[in-house]
Amino acid sequence: MTHQYDTVRPINWHNEQLHLLDQRKLPHEQITMILEQISDVTEAIKNMVVRGAPAIGITAAYGVVLAAKNAYAKHSTNWQAFIKNDIQELSQARPTAINLIWALERMQSKFTEINGDPVSILLKEAKLIHQEDIDANYKMGELGTELLPKNCRVLTHCNAGALATGGYGTALGVIRSGYAAGKITEVYADETRPWLQGARLTAWELLQDKIPVTLSVEGAAASLMRNKMIDWVIVGSDRITANGDVANKIGTYGLAVLARQHGVKFMVVAPTSTVDMNLADGNQVEIETRSMEEVLTLDGQNVAAIGAKAWNPSFDITPAEFVDFIVTEKGVVEPKSSEMNILGLT
Ligand code: MRU
Repeated sequence: MTHQYDTVRPINWHNEQLHLLDQRKLPHEQITMILEQISDVTEAIKNMVVRGAPAIGITAAYGVVLAAKNAYAKHSTNWQAFIKNDIQELSQARPTAINLIWALERMQSKFTEINGDPVSILLKEAKLIHQEDIDANYKMGELGTELLPKNCRVLTHCNAGALATGGYGTALGVIRSGYAAGKITEVYADETRPWLQGARLTAWELLQDKIPVTLSVEGAAASLMRNKMIDWVIVGSDRITANGDVANKIGTYGLAVLARQHGVKFMVVAPTSTVDMNLADGNQVEIETRSMEEVLTLDGQNVAAIGAKAWNPSFDITPAEFVDFIVTEKGVVEPKSSEMNILGLT
């Protein structure tokens, strides 16, 4: 089935190389980085060339293919031993998104089936992870849209779109499907300091698909809601714990508290690869802290008073009680009345 509003694809495997749309350069330049080494994949994830939990997982899966290909060319009998450290380093490139570990474990579970050249089996698995992610997004788009009433005005945060996934997006997947179904009339996006994923990426990809979008600074969210301009907040996630607590881009928790105060519904959209049943609650999630420079500067220019320090956590935890719906490809959970294991996850 073809979908409307579905043109952006950030990750491509082409001519035995990994092609990544460099998200640091968007929206002004569309530059593709071509990667051939797993160490380059680790750097690309650390440096935000590719970001967003599912996109990080898919990229890492292709990273394992590159590592195995290069190691097998030099050490055909014990190539696995030569890629262990690189995979370990890749697994730590960004700590909050569970999709990274999930994808690496899934790729490594294939190693026992390999006899000889590893590339075909591993590439098949990486492509499957990639396609399953896109299919999950289509499904979540449908399920999330069913929850929406007519004439919704929605607010989203960061970029949980095609750029953050294999394609179509999680939160933006629901927004694409809801817009196609005529249920969404307005899309607001937080600009999302310090990396401006909202202003640079969400606005760009929605406009690529001709979906109108209005940007606002995070500080305007309370007024948007108080002025009755928002009916639903729709966001993605980097990790959801067994009790339904949600790790997502810093600022998400504040939006959830505001939404509750103003009678606005709060929907989290994430594939089951984002659910971590090994963690009981959000207190156990490692929150990535990034460099002070990201806050003190803008586009390489100092914007803060010289000498000021900065606190730069990349994510926060929204307690399950503030979340009305978690939409996954396997079904919808209302965290206040049930835990994630109703989806049959282990
Ligand atoms: O720091 P980023 O840009 O990787 O943060 C991304 C987010 O917080 C997204 O909302 C999340 O990964 C979900 S992506 C479908």
